[in-house]
Amino acid sequence: MSTAPSSSIANSAAAPFDVERVREAFPILAERIHGKPLVYLDSAATSQKPQEVMDAMSRFLSKDNANVHRGVHYLSERATDAYEGARAKVQRFLNAKDVSEIVFVRGTTEAINLVAQTYGKTHVGTGDEVLITAMEHHSNIVPWQMLCEDKGARLRVAPITDGGELIPGELEKLIGPRTKIVAVTHVSNVLGTVNPIRQIIELAHAKGARVLIDGAQAAPHLEVDVQALGCDFYALSGHKMYGPTGIGVLYGKRDLLEEMPPYQGGGDMILSVSFDKTVYNTPPHRFEAGTPNMAGAVGLGAAIDFLGSLNHEALLAHEHDVLGYGIRALSRVPGLRLIGTARGKVSVLSFVLEDVHAHDVATILDREGIAVRAGHHCAQPLMSRLGLSATARASLACTSTRQEIDALVAGLGKVREVFR
Ligand SMILES: Cc1ncc(COP(=O)(O)O)c(C=O)c1O
Repeated sequence: MSTAPSSSIANSAAAPFDVERVREAFPILAERIHGKPLVYLDSAATSQKPQEVMDAMSRFLSKDNANVHRGVHYLSERATDAYEGARAKVQRFLNAKDVSEIVFVRGTTEAINLVAQTYGKTHVGTGDEVLITAMEHHSNIVPWQMLCEDKGARLRVAPITDGGELIPGELEKLIGPRTKIVAVTHVSNVLGTVNPIRQIIELAHAKGARVLIDGAQAAPHLEVDVQALGCDFYALSGHKMYGPTGIGVLYGKRDLLEEMPPYQGGGDMILSVSFDKTVYNTPPHRFEAGTPNMAGAVGLGAAIDFLGSLNHEALLAHEHDVLGYGIRALSRVPGLRLIGTARGKVSVLSFVLEDVHAHDVATILDREGIAVRAGHHCAQPLMSRLGLSATARASLACTSTRQEIDALVAGLGKVREVFR
């Protein structure tokens, strides 16, 4: 993470990851659920928030709140500084070349829809192709399907192995002269697979296609350098990376954003309006019609500071340790099958337990204070590919511990007792 450390829980470069100290920053982890200590294993759905994120939002609302960009009064300037300051933090976090390449949106879903409805609408025509993979979240399927339907274009899907990895060579074969956009998830929310996006970007660019990376599940765990990757667009959600809901980011290369038409019309996205003609603002404001989520942006900035305060290598090693421990422990649970066995995977443990429905697994675990997700995880085509209707999913964060995995395994013992 490129942001300078600012948190009181900063781990020094040499220090091992002090997970207990990190956990203290998250007040919700002290909650008891059904009388048991909370074991929160649902960060892939939404992460919990450190106190400093809540404090930053509360400080903004109690001291700086006013509408941004439009006022000349003092508070409006302060609010604008806070909002634009958050944009600069995102720029550093992603190592974008220019702050104007950072568009604030509601989240990954809106970022992808924005690209489909602007870049897509102006560059994809009849007979063209958009390429995705079999492991995409609905947010990286449906916007492209809508675009393809609208334009008479074709949606193509790169296949995956039973273990949940892209099949080498197959994606490349599907990038042809009609491929205009390749849209791929960086990390799968169901499998934890980390896709080789750098190679995919190179392959796509060699054939003249643009690349959007869905970074919703990557941003909380991996270092993302959009310049080194060379991607054209990168989408992320604040709420999955310790920030608030309702705020996310679309990174887009400056020259692409400049040629893209607006997504929505309204205040702030214009330079001048008359009944005859409207002149649009420059990026990123062209894509931020209306009053933005100012407190949300400030909260996201604080989440980036929080991530920057952690020793990233130690954080990765810690999450890797807990994931490996989880894989080994779950593999020993009789009747349990792990779904998603890609090498180098991160943060997600999806599984099925004999013929017990995933919702029953999650309901019984909930009685033990353990929060996991169950269902199709907004990836129904992936479920079909794997021949499943649902999985249970435990997902990890910087706060996860081996003890939480032990609690999960004990909880699964209860599930097995009930269904014996
Ligand atoms: C891989 C992936 N992409 C996109 C999304 C959509 O994110 P949001 O609902 O924050 O827009 C999610 C959410 O779970 C996800 O896991």
